[in-house]
Amino acid sequence: MKKLKITGGAQLSGSINVQGSKNSALPILAAAIVSGGETTVHNCPAISDVEAALEILSYLGCRTERDGDSVFVDSSGFSRTDVPESLMCRMRGSLCFLGAILCRAGEARLGYPGGCRLGPRPIDIHVKAMRDLGIEAENNGDELVFRAERPRGGIVSLSFPSVGATENALLAASGVRGTTVIINAAREPEIKDLAAYLQRLGVPVSGAGTAEITVEGGVDYKKTAEHSLIPDRIAAATYLCAAASAGGRVELRGAVYEDVASVAEILSEMGCEIKTGKNSLELIKNRPLKAPGREIITKPYPGFPTDAQPPLMAACLLSEGETVFRETMFESRYRQAPELIKMGADIRVDGKTASVRGVRRLTGAELRAEDLRGGAALAVAALAAEGESVISGMEYVDRGYEGFDMALKSIGARAEAME
Ligand code: EPZ
Repeated sequence: MKKLKITGGAQLSGSINVQGSKNSALPILAAAIVSGGETTVHNCPAISDVEAALEILSYLGCRTERDGDSVFVDSSGFSRTDVPESLMCRMRGSLCFLGAILCRAGEARLGYPGGCRLGPRPIDIHVKAMRDLGIEAENNGDELVFRAERPRGGIVSLSFPSVGATENALLAASGVRGTTVIINAAREPEIKDLAAYLQRLGVPVSGAGTAEITVEGGVDYKKTAEHSLIPDRIAAATYLCAAASAGGRVELRGAVYEDVASVAEILSEMGCEIKTGKNSLELIKNRPLKAPGREIITKPYPGFPTDAQPPLMAACLLSEGETVFRETMFESRYRQAPELIKMGADIRVDGKTASVRGVRRLTGAELRAEDLRGGAALAVAALAAEGESVISGMEYVDRGYEGFDMALKSIGARAEAME
């Protein structure tokens, strides 16, 4: 099991180039199936979830190649419409192959998707969206089977602005002749990024980033496309929290303030100084933090992102006063709390609510990551703890953070990866 040893207490100083967005890379790599041509994705992070997506593309008959930060996909060899559970189970992001395969071939047979254990992760909104497009969907107990016998453009109405369901609706509708309007669509920046890629293929998409997206399906696709992924806003938020936790001055090159505004505003309320550059963000923390004067409620974008809740919780552990979190997006997203309590944190979890009372010190401990963002949160806390922490389960963190240990070391953290 991969481990990370952190000796806390070092002030951070330096710059990090923010990686490309994991949650843009996954739907856009899947979307590379649509055209049957060649796609080059730039700023593509070297993380295990991207490796898993490339394995699925190869299984489907596509040719993939990585050249540094760029990934090349030739989908002319696409030859099958099934993805076995052995490939689907590694991440939730594999679900976006549903819309891409349907767009290309009009049918799909998928094993059940995986993903961090954040509580139930149903797919009812995805299924309803496909049915809204006239696509038959069946769950036969072993796998999910979809068939576009008589697909039709029209209205896809989402009961909740699900990111994944919006992506699948957008991808599937791109292959259905006519106009489709997606109502109550997710507004995350990754949706806009996927729409921008589809537009490069020649698919007319409008309204991405708002709650209503219109797409003209069934057009002739361009056979080559290049696309550069947006920066990973959750990785950026995580490094902001690391700087707030450890103290010092950290610059994030490539960060987009608007994408992390809800996190930056809270860190600023807590006493950090945030400076925005042309294409960068800087956080300076040189005095004790105090709890933000309001409850932190996780919401769909542009609300406070659920993925930033664990790292921000870690950054609040030493802040004066009480910080209250309300996690509305996933049922079990406080798995980092018991591990943080081992370090001396004062956290009380009661269902969806977690209350963090600032303590005077944290002590390094043996910690265990249970999910991607929770694992990153343990490192954020360890940076501010006295003594040494060893975090196991870093495979979870490697799913979404490119070179996490090297990034921390590059800004002065005493961090060492261990096998
Ligand atoms: C995406 O997951 C992200 N993953 C998640 O990031 C992120 O936490 C989440 O969006 C919310 O922002 C990727 O993009 C690969 P949802 P997704 O569908 O699409 C419920 C990370 O750490 N729901 O927007 O699975 C669901 O249970 C990961 O990078 C249904 O009820 O999230 C949840 O409560 C973790 N039925 C809420 O909607 C459905 O059919 C939001 O889920 C689908 C979702």
